[in-house]
Amino acid sequence: MDQSRAPVLEALVAYHERGDLSFTPPGHKQGRGVDPRVLAVLGEGVFRSDILVTNGLDDRLMTGGVLEDAQQLMAEAVNAQQAFFSTCGSSLSVKSAMLSVAGPGEKLLVARDAHKSVISGLILSGVEPVWVHPRWDADLHFSYPPSPAAVEAAFKAEPDAKGVLVASPTDYGTCADLAGIKQVCVRHDRAFIVDEAWGAHLPFHPQNLPVWGMNAGADVCVTSVHKMGNGLEQGSVFHLQGDRVDPQVLKEREDLLGTTSPSTLLYAAMDGWRRQMVEQGKELLDRAIGLAMSARTAINQIGGLRVLDMETCDAFELDPLKLVIDVSGLGADGYHAADWLRRRAHVNMALSDHRRVSAQITVGDDMDTRNVLVESLRAMAGAGDLPTAAKVALPEPGELELETVMPPRDAFFGRTEQVPIEKAAGRVIAEMATPYPPGAPALTPGERITPAVLRYLRTGLAAGMNIPDVYDPTLRTLRVVA
Ligand SMILES: Cc1ncc(COP(=O)(O)O)c(C=O)c1O
Repeated sequence: MDQSRAPVLEALVAYHERGDLSFTPPGHKQGRGVDPRVLAVLGEGVFRSDILVTNGLDDRLMTGGVLEDAQQLMAEAVNAQQAFFSTCGSSLSVKSAMLSVAGPGEKLLVARDAHKSVISGLILSGVEPVWVHPRWDADLHFSYPPSPAAVEAAFKAEPDAKGVLVASPTDYGTCADLAGIKQVCVRHDRAFIVDEAWGAHLPFHPQNLPVWGMNAGADVCVTSVHKMGNGLEQGSVFHLQGDRVDPQVLKEREDLLGTTSPSTLLYAAMDGWRRQMVEQGKELLDRAIGLAMSARTAINQIGGLRVLDMETCDAFELDPLKLVIDVSGLGADGYHAADWLRRRAHVNMALSDHRRVSAQITVGDDMDTRNVLVESLRAMAGAGDLPTAAKVALPEPGELELETVMPPRDAFFGRTEQVPIEKAAGRVIAEMATPYPPGAPALTPGERITPAVLRYLRTGLAAGMNIPDVYDPTLRTLRVVA
């Protein structure tokens, strides 16, 4: 296919050139009805190009094939057989992918460090998870995606499971041995789904970036183009290859969950990103990797800071564009370091936990932004005014591997009660409790609550952890199965 084309962008230009007048949504009528004060902030272009896909960008029956062509170009560019654009983030795409492999009451192997959107997929669908535990790092106190051996053991224990879902890269940039897991899936004749929300850039520089799910043989992989790519927020793509997952089924599942009003803006940005990456991706990513490497070196020279690398961690692979910066050498925690950087340096970090903050470098960065990051970190380290790290009662490896007593769906939708946290140990949790980011629930509906996980969440909250999804944000009470 002609990768210099961008069908969505071209159709937008054609719409404007024809001077089409739409008596359809969106009601702002390409911005004509919008309060000038809104236009002053958002810009006229946003509204001008916010047009309906069906009967706007393309005709009533989509006979122009605008979206189809754009998706096929994306598929070809990233070594997939088919690609589908989604405008509801990977939060939706990952659910569609799961539901195309397993249905209510059927089993799916799910890495327990899954993002909360996966857990909500289990709750909504009634797919029963068989947890595959991640590899815990007792020193760094975080986890790596599960190993092929763990997936192998899980398939042996649960031969009925329809497939496996693994997130790679994680929010920390750590990657799974995808090719190894693929071999396990082949041996067991099962589907392999990769939640590659953090990996939209991977296909465009295979030499210098971790392996891309499609290249490792995944059946479906999901990316958020807005996370590491140049998509607008919520732009996501799922990619498909082989014949294990029926593309029509995948589309149908997406249709079940997705919006009937997808955003042309999101489609257009994804279309343009693909063209840009095909044409200039290697060069742009090389530059970004170079910036990240030089930032890494400079940050490591700042006393008290240390960037995660392959020498200090046990990941199978690491995304070089993720700078995960350990601030514990300053005696501080990541929550207050992130707050310091936002308040004092106007620099927003991506992730913060009990000892780290992270910064992602993308093709949108340059030497100036790299310098701001490094100098802000230097200023923070030199200021000496970060509060002493609050003590978080971190679970030992395995202490977050809770007993699953009932399916997440039954626990979530069954009879529940709110109990004081002091009385919650031993009960079955009916809600998610998720330190965010990274967004992997510490408690998932259906699990038996243990004192260790309660200590972790309570001390974490007191230290500054964000737990946005519990019914009682003070954590004085928890929602449990009645
Ligand atoms: C591993 C993983 N999967 C899925 C998602 C959901 O992606 P989105 O924000 O595009 O809905 C996230 C978001 O952070 C994530 O980290």
